[in-house]
Amino acid sequence: MLRPTFSTILLCLSIGNANAITVPYRPPPPEVLRAEGITTTQSAAPSGPQTAALFAAPPTGNALPRTGWTVTVDSFQPGNEGSKVLDGDNNSIWHSAWSSNPPPLPHTITIDMKSVQNVNGLTYLPRQDGNYNGNIGQHEIYLSTDGSNFGSPVAFGTYLDDGSQKSTTIETKPARYVRIVALTEAGNRGPWTSASEFDIYAAGSFTPPASGLGRWGPTIDFPIVPAAAALSSDGKVVTWSAFSPSTFVGGNGGMTVTATYDPSIKKVTQRTVSNTNHDMFCPGISIAGNGLLVVTGGNNAPKTSLRNSGDTWTAGADMKLARGYQSSATTSDGRVFTIGGSWSGPAGGKDGEIYNPAANTWTLLPGCPVAPMLTADAQGVFRSDNHAWIFGWKGGSVFQAGPSKAMNWYGTAGTGSRTGAGTRAADSDSMCGNAVMYDAPAGKILTAGGSPNYQGSQASRNAHIITIGAVNQNPTVQSLMPLWFARIFANAVVLPDGQVFITGGHTFGNPFSDDNSILTPELWNPATTQFVKMAPNSIPRNYHSVALLLLDGTVFVGGGGLCDSCSTNHFDAQIYTPPYLLNGDGSLRSRPVISSLSTTSIAVGGTLSVKTNSPVTKMSLVRHGSSTHTVNTDQRRIPLTLQSAGTNTYNVVVPSDPGIALPGYWMLFAIDSAGVPSIAKSILIRTS
Ligand SMILES: *[C@@H]1O[C@H](CO)[C@@H](O)[C@H](O)[C@H]1NC(C)=O
Repeated sequence: MLRPTFSTILLCLSIGNANAITVPYRPPPPEVLRAEGITTTQSAAPSGPQTAALFAAPPTGNALPRTGWTVTVDSFQPGNEGSKVLDGDNNSIWHSAWSSNPPPLPHTITIDMKSVQNVNGLTYLPRQDGNYNGNIGQHEIYLSTDGSNFGSPVAFGTYLDDGSQKSTTIETKPARYVRIVALTEAGNRGPWTSASEFDIYAAGSFTPPASGLGRWGPTIDFPIVPAAAALSSDGKVVTWSAFSPSTFVGGNGGMTVTATYDPSIKKVTQRTVSNTNHDMFCPGISIAGNGLLVVTGGNNAPKTSLRNSGDTWTAGADMKLARGYQSSATTSDGRVFTIGGSWSGPAGGKDGEIYNPAANTWTLLPGCPVAPMLTADAQGVFRSDNHAWIFGWKGGSVFQAGPSKAMNWYGTAGTGSRTGAGTRAADSDSMCGNAVMYDAPAGKILTAGGSPNYQGSQASRNAHIITIGAVNQNPTVQSLMPLWFARIFANAVVLPDGQVFITGGHTFGNPFSDDNSILTPELWNPATTQFVKMAPNSIPRNYHSVALLLLDGTVFVGGGGLCDSCSTNHFDAQIYTPPYLLNGDGSLRSRPVISSLSTTSIAVGGTLSVKTNSPVTKMSLVRHGSSTHTVNTDQRRIPLTLQSAGTNTYNVVVPSDPGIALPGYWMLFAIDSAGVPSIAKSILIRTS
């Protein structure tokens, strides 16, 4: 069956802008695909065997010549020795013993390169004979200089169960030995491991990471391109791509491939969700006031899918308007407001509507017109109503801070209302930039980057603080010293101490390209209003990348691509450890521990009693985030005032206004005098 490639789409679409500089690929809405006669039927079921090759972005660096290398394995079938992974013959394989009493998993292969190399990645080619027995699923990758001390994994996760070459990129580290531990067989077919080839990649040089700038790694391999993600109440990261692990094109067949990362056991599991009949690519995402994850629209444009903390997905009511690339925001009463989204369904007129999770109903809000928040995008309304920067605020209101230079207030009572809120100082339209509410009680929103057009224009370095207060009043807007780097398609994450971590993106909007990638993140400090460059990483994170704060105060940064046979599919994530968790020598600082909490479910205005194992000086609440296409309307932060209530015992009061303390799941962090945050406890804030 024909599976459309990007080049065929490019040939079929006439490109409007004759002056386009680089390949101006425009992701077509489904109706364009249909009009062009390209199949929209689903041809690539991710669960069964696939022969079509997926294309993972290769590691950076160069594949090393393997001459003279040796291999040690824990088990092999005669004729399928470990050395077969280095022989350059795709038809020969290493296979753990299978003929009699096969030893159980895990199986281990250790490659000795005979000299220390600046290792920064590897590729794994599964067997190519069409038989998948022994494909590596869950795995861990270790490095060693001496062959006996392997430390903790530099990468782990789960590879997709197919014949395509897998790619793992790590931050450069000198090593002589590379060890791959296969924990599961990818299809659970038996206790085996097999491999056709392993190549090891290396950088020309190694610079030890500078201190004080945070640290990247480990790499987490995913069986999908994680293009959307949300933090579950149990601290797991649920991610998804589309109907396929590697492409969104042709996806309206009513299913979604998900993969969930559990930080507590460092495992990734894959699951296809089909019972909601919803390809959840390019959705709106919000964590509703009752804690349900509400995923709307996208490839199946009218659909709503709901996920609870037990990973049970159920179908919600269809939206009144079919949407894709809309944004949604939880309101002070726990409902979910959405607006925009002309990427799917008919273009234009995507006025507001609101979801009531208790009644499972959508209500159109004709008084919330989309027109005042449109950008002047060169591609028209298909793009101009995408990815709104919206924030639930007091009294059921929603503040729209961008990406249009115009700002607006939307009211969600009755049939809705709209009040203009001025412009974002001298800023231009900033599509696919970032906006983060880093101090909710003070109404403070940081904005950064973006570009006048969704694609084909330079990104900006502009940054602002928007301060909102009374509903329907114009906010104040402060222009900041700009970002170090112009960025579009970056991600921004508020940390427990109120700093904002901005990572990835590139300087010229070009979806599915990793050209001009910014690999140096920036940390914005609200006290100094300055951006400070942090440690660079080596995996580009551009279009379709995600980032989320985790309960342990690290940042999950993943995805990018989802473009079929392109070379920018990033089947992985990395953990960024901010400077606040590290000593000068790179070791982990000791951190305070929240030893008990009076409750994990509290109404706004309530008092929490918190006991810690050592003195702390600050606490904060950071709302669980959700992330796709640069939008994370769920995250926001509330600094708390400590009241001492005995030795290492503190009372903190949750703000009484649910427009500030939006209902839903929040992380409670305790922070010591050195600025080190605890691992957070997750709590549900209720409206009553
Ligand atoms: C072996 O497979 C790899 C990965 O698919 C491919 O790049 C390479 O060309 C193949 N080698 C041969 C000799 O076919």
